[in-house]
Amino acid sequence: MNKKIKKILRKKNNSKIACLTAYSKTVAKILDKFVDIILVGDSMANVLYGHKNTHKISLKNIIQHTISVKMGTSKSTLVVDMPKGSYNNIKTAQKNAKLVMKKTKCDAIKIESNGRNYKIINELIKKNIPVMGHIGYTPQFKKKFKVEGVSRIDTSKLLKEAINIEKAGAFSIVLECISPNAAKIITRELNIPTIGIGSSSYCDGQILVTDDMLGISGFYPKFVKKYANLNRVIEKAVKKYTREVKLKKFPTMKNFLNGTKIRN
Ligand code: KIV
Repeated sequence: MNKKIKKILRKKNNSKIACLTAYSKTVAKILDKFVDIILVGDSMANVLYGHKNTHKISLKNIIQHTISVKMGTSKSTLVVDMPKGSYNNIKTAQKNAKLVMKKTKCDAIKIESNGRNYKIINELIKKNIPVMGHIGYTPQFKKKFKVEGVSRIDTSKLLKEAINIEKAGAFSIVLECISPNAAKIITRELNIPTIGIGSSSYCDGQILVTDDMLGISGFYPKFVKKYANLNRVIEKAVKKYTREVKLKKFPTMKNFLNGTKIRN
């Protein structure tokens, strides 16, 4: 098993796991200094491409962005979301996951659960492809954004799903929008780490979409804590730049290229 995956597994009951998303080298380079896991999420469909949901992002898009993210990643574990439709059956899943691993040199892939695709996870693991599972609100399969695991029946259904994913061989599992009680039970019963989003601090780790927590995406549900307001910072800088261009204050001779290093 990949050393980075083993390291994540060892964190269960030892230290909390911090995860964030990245879609580019520039952002990955900053995250890599701090977080344990960088996820190239299919949330790029909403955040970068302005789609209504995550359904139309292609494998090619995911691979291209991961190649960029990989350039900025050295110490964090790099996980890549398999897009909708790319793992419908064992053969397709193996072909596409192998392609992602080969082209991007990522450490693992993530697959959303539809409550039936455990065999697919297991067959990927047999091919030495580490898999992160994802249950609760799974945007590729569910239309309605709601908290799951509120009733006892729903909680035991989620627990069974999580146990099946662990049995299939996944090294961790995202719990998205799951009640604190269900997250607590699932985290306690599993041997693999749970990574929560909108699922309370009972999880072994947390993940947020970086653009949301930096205040740049415009999507701020209650479970997102805004750690910065980059929208405001960028607006201020762009306003100043525009003013200086109009007033001929930029560029000055100080900004003349001669002798300066050019980015390659
Ligand atoms: O696509 C994504 O960014 C995700 C996280 C929100 C878990 O799946």
